[in-house]
Amino acid sequence: MKINFSSNKIKKQDIKQVEKILKSGWLTHGKNTINFENEFKKFTGAKFAITVSSCTAGLHLSCMALQLKKGDEVIVPSQTHVATAHAVKLTGATPIFCDINYLTGLINPEKIKKIITKKTKAIILVHMNGFSCEINEIKKICKRKKIKIIEDCAHGLGSMYNKKHVGNFGIAGVFSFYPTKQITTGEGGMLITNNKQFAKKIRSIKAFGIDKDITQRKIPGYYDVKDLGINYRMTDFQAAIGYKQLKRYPKELKLRKQNAKYLYSLLQNLKHIKIPKFNEDYSYFIFPIHSTKRNNLMKKLKDKKIGFSIHYAKALHQMSYYKKKSFKMINAERYAKTNISLPIYGALSKNKLNYIYKALNEI
Ligand SMILES: Cc1ncc(COP(=O)(O)O)c(C=O)c1O
Repeated sequence: MKINFSSNKIKKQDIKQVEKILKSGWLTHGKNTINFENEFKKFTGAKFAITVSSCTAGLHLSCMALQLKKGDEVIVPSQTHVATAHAVKLTGATPIFCDINYLTGLINPEKIKKIITKKTKAIILVHMNGFSCEINEIKKICKRKKIKIIEDCAHGLGSMYNKKHVGNFGIAGVFSFYPTKQITTGEGGMLITNNKQFAKKIRSIKAFGIDKDITQRKIPGYYDVKDLGINYRMTDFQAAIGYKQLKRYPKELKLRKQNAKYLYSLLQNLKHIKIPKFNEDYSYFIFPIHSTKRNNLMKKLKDKKIGFSIHYAKALHQMSYYKKKSFKMINAERYAKTNISLPIYGALSKNKLNYIYKALNEI
C-alpha cells in the first residue's frame, strides 16, 4: 500500500474548463475571478472576498493596508510558516514572537499579554493545522489595547469558531491555495474582510494602486494611480480551478472530519505519541501528532510508504534570519522537535487509516 501526503484535487472537468479559458484569451481579472470570490463569500460568510496570488501576498497586503512601518511591532506565533513573519518584516515593522500551546500549535493568549508594548499595532493569528485559535480571549485583549487582528487562515478553510468561519474575526483573514492545502490553485490565496474601506484599499493595492479595476474603465488605459501598490493578482484560470474545488469542498470537509475522528479514536491509545483532542469545529488541514522518537517514526512511515510532513521543524525564532539569543520559547521549540503531520484528506479509506495506525503501533 502507498499513501500520499496530500490528495490530487484536480478533476478532468477542471482541466477542460482551464483549456476553455486558455483558448478564450481572457486570462486574468475576468468572470472566473468574480465567480470564485462570490463563492468564497458564500462559504465563509464574509462580506468581501478578494483573490490574491498567494497567502503571503494577502498577508503582506493586509500589513501594507494597515500602514505598518518601521518602529511598529506585530505579534506573531513562533510556530508558523515564515510567510507570517515575512509579511510584517516587508513593511519595515518588527515581528514579535509569541509562544504557543504545545499540543495544538496555537498561540497562547496568556503569553500575548506579556509581550504587548506601546509599539504593538497588530497581531497575526495562525489557525495552525486547521485548528481555530482561542479568538474570544484574544479579541478581548486586543480591543483593550486597540490592536488590529489579521488571521492567517492558510490552514483554515472550513475551520469554525462559535459557529462563524475563521477569517471573520479581525480586519482580514487570508487563505492559501498551495497544492497541499484543502483546495488548490497551484499558487494562490483569498483575502476576506467585513470592512468596506479595507476591501477597497486591498483591491487597489493588489493591482498597482490603480483607482479603477478593468470593469470600471470606460476607455482602455484611462485610470489614475492613488496609492503605492504591487501586482498580487491571481489568473482567471487559477480562479476557475479554485471555484470548482470550493463547490466540492463541503463534501470533502465532512469526510476529512470523519477521518480525523476515526484516526483520533485509533491513535489516542498509543502511549508513545501525543495528539490534540478531536474537535468538530476544526477543518483538519493535516493530522498532527507528537513523538519524542520522531526519527523512528519517520523511518517507519517511510518504510511503509506513508506520506508525511513536518509543520514546522524549526520555530521562527530559531531560523537564521530571525534568530536572537534573547528569544526562548519552550513550547514552540518542543513542538518543532516532536511534530509530524499525517495525511487526513477525504479520499483516505478506513483501510488506509487502519494501515497508518498499524504502522505507528509497530514502533
Ligand atoms: C501558516 C501559513 N501561512 C502562510 C503560508 C504561505 O502561503 P502561500 O504559500 O500561499 O503564500 C503558509 C504556507 O504554507 C502557511 O502554512
